[in-house]
Amino acid sequence: MSTPGCRTKGVGGKGSPVAGDGWNNGGGEHHNCMAGAAVSRPIRPWSRDKLDLLGKYLQAYTRIMHRQPWLKRSSFIDAFAGAGQYFDPEVDEYVDGSPLVALDCEPPFDEFWFIDLSSARIAELQNHADTRGRSDIHFHTGDANRFLTRDVALTITYDSYRRGFVFVDPYGLQVDWATIEVLTATKALDLFINFPVMGVNRLLPRDEAPDPTSSGRLKLLFKDTEWVESLYLHVADLFGDVRAMRDRLDAQRLADRYIADVRSLFPYTSRPVIMRNSVNAPLYALFLASHNANAAKITDSIFDKYTREAAARPPRPRRTPTPGCFENGCPGADTTTRSCYRTQSLSGHPQNRGLTFSHARAV
Ligand SMILES: C[S@@+](CC[C@H](N)C(=O)[O-])C[C@H]1O[C@@H](n2cnc3c(N)ncnc32)[C@H](O)[C@@H]1O
Repeated sequence: MSTPGCRTKGVGGKGSPVAGDGWNNGGGEHHNCMAGAAVSRPIRPWSRDKLDLLGKYLQAYTRIMHRQPWLKRSSFIDAFAGAGQYFDPEVDEYVDGSPLVALDCEPPFDEFWFIDLSSARIAELQNHADTRGRSDIHFHTGDANRFLTRDVALTITYDSYRRGFVFVDPYGLQVDWATIEVLTATKALDLFINFPVMGVNRLLPRDEAPDPTSSGRLKLLFKDTEWVESLYLHVADLFGDVRAMRDRLDAQRLADRYIADVRSLFPYTSRPVIMRNSVNAPLYALFLASHNANAAKITDSIFDKYTREAAARPPRPRRTPTPGCFENGCPGADTTTRSCYRTQSLSGHPQNRGLTFSHARAV
């Protein structure tokens, strides 16, 4: 705790799986039937990268903020906080989630606001946060949009000489454009946004225009959606029926579209890092929106270094399905790729150790 910086590694060492990061393509949370203890989903490599980048940026942020003589109070707001701790089945170790990464920052934030829709996750997070011995943490169960616009934006204001850093890390399309507008208007809050490019892509079918529900959702997410129409060509088929079709949509283009919207509110944004899953499909675009030019420059340099290092990494070991792995709710099972994050070369697949798991629904 005394060394400067924000830890992103686990605290619990090796052992049984604990909490998960809730990615929408990773399967449900898990309960360890043998122990009877609640444990949850594994963390994926790209989520670890996200936490690593967050930790590196927060380290720079708190150091700079602590040098500002006018600053009355610095706050970290985790709008989609999660349960606080995960398990990495690739290396058999616990990993701190974003709230704990922020709690471990040196120099520290003055206060923390942790928000999650799930009361179970907030309860679990409270347990993990208790180990840090801080009294200045506000926990809130509920919708992030509501809480950010009604509480955070009214409390952390420019004139009160308070400043806040909001981590916006939803599963999918939960963040309304109206929320970003309200947060920006405070001029006191910077945002680190993990924008769900895969979620948006899913709302834009290749062979027909988005249905009214998808269009409605996109309208809530973006500043405007005129660009959606321009993606589609209208072509007549052999029977004379006109169909809407679109080309492949590049993740970078989608991210740039959203960042351009954010840039109409915030004076500075970083370049995005596109987070990809194990089969190289783009999932999220992580970027900073700030009122400070230097903050965007620092983020760009952290992201550039990450991109160079990621490109130089050796390919990940090939993961193979283990028979029964999915049905038994193995914490390493990836239901999208039907492969297992627990490589045989590590401490062994849980099935090989005679352990069984059963699924519990994610909340
Ligand atoms: C990707 S996870 C967060 C991971 C966390 N930031 C981390 O890195 O450790 C998304 C979280 O958002 C929560 N969530 C989903 N919809 C929400 C909403 N409308 N408001 C607040 N939290 C929500 C989920 O319960 C889940 O814990």
